[in-house]
Amino acid sequence: MTLTGGELAESSLTVARGNPDLVRIDFRAMDMLDIPGQYDCITANAVTYLFNHAEYEKAVASIACALRPNGTFISFDWYHAFDGQDLAITEFTAGHPDGLVIHARPYSRVSDIFRKAGLDGITFQPFRIPIDLPEPEDKSGDPITFTVKQENGDRLCMRGHCFNHGVMSWRRRHSNPSKQPHPIMAYVKWACGHDCDE
Ligand SMILES: C[S@@+](CC[C@H](N)C(=O)[O-])C[C@H]1O[C@@H](n2cnc3c(N)ncnc32)[C@H](O)[C@@H]1O
Repeated sequence: MTLTGGELAESSLTVARGNPDLVRIDFRAMDMLDIPGQYDCITANAVTYLFNHAEYEKAVASIACALRPNGTFISFDWYHAFDGQDLAITEFTAGHPDGLVIHARPYSRVSDIFRKAGLDGITFQPFRIPIDLPEPEDKSGDPITFTVKQENGDRLCMRGHCFNHGVMSWRRRHSNPSKQPHPIMAYVKWACGHDCDE
């Protein structure tokens, strides 16, 4: 399996290239709004929430072009079920003194944009963090993720004061009639170091 990693920031590419656990991945400067090449599977972890509406539509069109038939896009991002609420929260921090705009998009809007780009089989799965991440004692710094355990055992995923509406979404270019496990499962197994179906 050929694995390619894309990022805009050269600093992130340098860190990724120096990680011995990631030696199988070919890291390249890549803009998600204009993805070069063709792939069976594309994943994006916490990237598209940064895009404004026009950029988001461009990124989705780019993903649709870069996926081979039966290809899959898997994303972790800020999505939620309140169809009438399209959130753009501006966060001012030491790291982002001019403001970082965080977009939390409703499922319906995301689905419409994906369908318009020719992608189907869209599903949304709640993202659950299976470990306790401690609330920072010093709340003066840039926000970091922490978890708050609920009575039912689920953990709310917090970014400072904001609840992170984290969701995994699966989008297939076309449904897979053969029902064979998608090649992404092999990647997920490799990346997790165990069988993630468990
Ligand atoms: C919150 S970080 C997530 C980084 C990484 N995916 C991870 O999970 O650790 C968001 C990243 O998106 C990258 N990014 C922003 N716009 C991008 C674009 N148009 N194409 C590719 N990467 C982009 C930023 O450089 C930043 O490293």
